[in-house]
Amino acid sequence: MSELIRFGISLEKKLLEDFDKLIKSKQYSNRSEAIRDLIRDSMVKEEWKKGVDVAGAISLVYDHHKRELLDMIVDIQHDYQDMIVASQHVHMDHNNCLEVIIVKGKPSGLTMLSDKLRAVKGVKHGSVSFTTLGKEF
Ligand code: NI
Repeated sequence: MSELIRFGISLEKKLLEDFDKLIKSKQYSNRSEAIRDLIRDSMVKEEWKKGVDVAGAISLVYDHHKRELLDMIVDIQHDYQDMIVASQHVHMDHNNCLEVIIVKGKPSGLTMLSDKLRAVKGVKHGSVSFTTLGKEF
């Protein structure tokens, strides 16, 4: 762990009160931890903009009775297999499946992959969560 440095921050009273309420609702034990996470979030977003390798998770909810949809989702994943680290398929009920695909690579490629998967006709909901490989932290 690198050296910790203390520094002061000046904020309007109201802004600080609102911030304290927010971090309490998000279960942070202190302001420092909350501020560290905000800084890291900004840095992760910069990594995505810079185009360095990053990681992410793509989630898809779909009806597995739609066989064409299933074929499309599998075909797309084979086309992008160099970016896919792992995937997990869960049968949520009789009709609905949740698939979570863990990805790693350049943001442009990962965005293309997630856009293609989410745009498949019949996908009820798709989301993507971007994160970091953690090397810079
Ligand atoms: Ni299923």
